[in-house]
Amino acid sequence: MHLSSFAAFWLLLATVVRAISWTATPFNPSSIPLAVRTPYLSAWLPQGSGAALNDAWATFWTGMIVGWAGFVKVDGAAYVFMGAPSVPATFSKATQKSSHFTSTQSIFVLSAGPVDLTVTFLSPVEPDDLVKQSIPFAYMAVSAASTDGLSHSVQVYSDISAEWVSGDNSLNVKWNSTTTGSILTHQVQLADPAVLTEINDHTQYGSAFYSTPNIEGATFQTGADVAVRAQFINNGKLANTLDTNFRAISNNWPVFGLAHDLGTITSATTPVVFSVGHIRDPALTYIIAGGGTQNRNLYFLSKFPTSAAVVSSFLGDFTAALSRAKTFDGQVQTDASKISADYASVVALSIRQAFAATELTLSKTSTGAFNMSDIILFMKEISSDGNVNTVDVIFPAWPIFLYTNPALGKYLLEGLFRYQATGLYPNKWSVHDLGSSYPKALGHNDGADEAMPVEESGNMLIMALSYAQKTGDHSHLTRYAGLLDQWTQFLIADSLIPANQISTDDFAGSLANQTNLAIKGIVGIGAMSKIAAILGDTAQSANYSSIATSYVTQWQKFSASTTGAHLTLSYGDSSSWGLSYNLFGDKLLKLNLFPASIYSEQTAWYQTHANAFGVPLDTRHTYTKTDWQLFTAAIATNTTTRDIFISAVKKWASDGQNNGPFGDLYDTVSGAIAVGFRARPVVGGHLALLVL
Ligand SMILES: *[C@@H]1O[C@H](CO)[C@@H](O)[C@H](O)[C@H]1NC(C)=O
Ligand SMILES: *[C@@H]1O[C@H](CO)[C@@H](O)[C@H](O)[C@H]1NC(C)=O
Ligand SMILES: *[C@@H]1O[C@H](CO)[C@@H](O)[C@H](O)[C@H]1NC(C)=O
Ligand SMILES: *[C@@H]1O[C@H](CO)[C@@H](O)[C@H](O)[C@H]1NC(C)=O
Ligand SMILES: *[C@@H]1O[C@H](CO)[C@@H](O)[C@H](O)[C@H]1NC(C)=O
Repeated sequence: MHLSSFAAFWLLLATVVRAISWTATPFNPSSIPLAVRTPYLSAWLPQGSGAALNDAWATFWTGMIVGWAGFVKVDGAAYVFMGAPSVPATFSKATQKSSHFTSTQSIFVLSAGPVDLTVTFLSPVEPDDLVKQSIPFAYMAVSAASTDGLSHSVQVYSDISAEWVSGDNSLNVKWNSTTTGSILTHQVQLADPAVLTEINDHTQYGSAFYSTPNIEGATFQTGADVAVRAQFINNGKLANTLDTNFRAISNNWPVFGLAHDLGTITSATTPVVFSVGHIRDPALTYIIAGGGTQNRNLYFLSKFPTSAAVVSSFLGDFTAALSRAKTFDGQVQTDASKISADYASVVALSIRQAFAATELTLSKTSTGAFNMSDIILFMKEISSDGNVNTVDVIFPAWPIFLYTNPALGKYLLEGLFRYQATGLYPNKWSVHDLGSSYPKALGHNDGADEAMPVEESGNMLIMALSYAQKTGDHSHLTRYAGLLDQWTQFLIADSLIPANQISTDDFAGSLANQTNLAIKGIVGIGAMSKIAAILGDTAQSANYSSIATSYVTQWQKFSASTTGAHLTLSYGDSSSWGLSYNLFGDKLLKLNLFPASIYSEQTAWYQTHANAFGVPLDTRHTYTKTDWQLFTAAIATNTTTRDIFISAVKKWASDGQNNGPFGDLYDTVSGAIAVGFRARPVVGGHLALLVL
């Protein structure tokens, strides 16, 4: 039932482009984040060209439904405000008046008769608090206000289904509930969990939690979707009964309901708060020296050893969390608005998505205690292939970590450095990723990872120096100096004339002598010159500096088009061109290896080569990348050109042509998504203009 009504809805939407009837600020994105915190806590409202909170089910980033319903009763009349449930009982649809998103919140106002409901979805972003950042939970807060000056009786209901615990709805689940004490909590998990595995990108172990404060007027119920929802619609409260007939997710759809009686209200009420989350332990397995593996546990477990403790703390923290979120949102808005309003809106939509691809972990010592000095941040390469800590996905995302808390960047690099320092990885260049399939960071001891030798070696050098410059912390440079030099030797041999290989834009295929890839390698050599200086080796620093400078001179001859108007895509192919976004590293690290004329020439070229939805990535295709366009915007020498890139990304993000989370690869002519990339952390690179 869920799936067929969902499919029918989208078929309808595909043929009828609807004008939205509510105010959408700052714009109407393809999909709005609802509960977006980790690779597995990822619930979105698929909007397409316009779907209200109660027009569609929330979906996982893949598009699979994660059942999440909401009803309100006003003076005895029931209205659905969230999801697309069908229930054999009488209710109407609340009317959406507005949708609004910030960096951490999505806020909807819907009118239900004479009452307006404000539904706030808060997915906290807590870059400076590792405990809070690692808690895999999000809030939904609901408040009601009379719109006619009269008093009204209001009750609020919400549930989640068991779709939050698996990517296969035919699997059996079991559940239980905490019904006494200060918090009501439903917990649901697979009957036969499979640790460290996924189906359809959903995790297959751990538990989902749906919770609310157990205040006066709170009720609960578990049972079949139609039965629990009808109970609320007919009675305005739940039956405080528990279904113990454990069964498959899709077998009479068990749902986990919670309700509050707000009593008689007039002016806006204090919100009732619900929390949704998913905890699994261990979070990942990680390869260690000698070839063994180590379990990694979510950081917050060091502070909250039980799920009851974390749920209680998280719910109790709502008011403070909202206040911190508003401060964070305000800071981002202030900083990004200095560029433009379009830019601020693109950045706001990017932040939850980028953070939600990451998980902060600790290991345990031999005595079972948490090792608080062993922090690794893991990142899932969502939607493209699920790799763990892909270097050329961390690199485009890097600006968001530099901007919010560079230490998070250090924790991302730590896993890659430590693995390669074991000597288990055989290649002389940097590894591409820590494991083919999240959450297994098992390395690539056969050296057969996706080979991007120049790309990844340059990326590691650039990010390591960037972190050190930003923080003054030289510990990675000191500890991993050997690896950094090894990668530099490779770049010295292979980056001026890059062999036939793929770059980060692997979907475009391999090519020899890529102009932009050579920039990456040369900037990497320049970075090592600075690193050597920091480490006190002035002779080595001078040598690498002169190599980088001489490479730039030679590269200028190889890479110029015969007209001199632009750089080529690859040496000697005069009519070819592309976005030379790797110059961003030269500016970020303040190397100034490349002459100003290169920047101004490229800036002028892009200005006259934009299609309706932006500037193509290169002459092989009409598609482009959002992250590389904004890296290029950050180094543009003309604000007209800069704003062409920014407006193009905003136009794509708001064009209503798809209904998935923010995609980073799309067609510049049609504005349609290309390849299907969505929900990827590379949108963290949209903050590139905030870090130069
Ligand atoms: C619910 O089940 C889980 C998993 O079996 C268990 O750890 C937890 O203690 C149970 N909670 C309650 C309230 O019974
Ligand atoms: C804690 O982790 C660090 C970093 O991996 C390691 O050097 C140290 O030996 C660990 N401490 C213990 C007690 O295991
Ligand atoms: C790469 O460029 C160099 C310098 O122009 C040239 O000598 C070499 O033949 C090119 N390689 C390929 C495969 O085109
Ligand atoms: C500079 O570095 C290159 C590459 O490692 C090396 O071959 C060369 O001998 C070095 N030159 C000096 C003067 O150290
Ligand atoms: C930027 O480009 C615009 C449009 O071509 C042009 O009018 C303007 O003079 C340029 N500004 C600078 C500072 O070069």
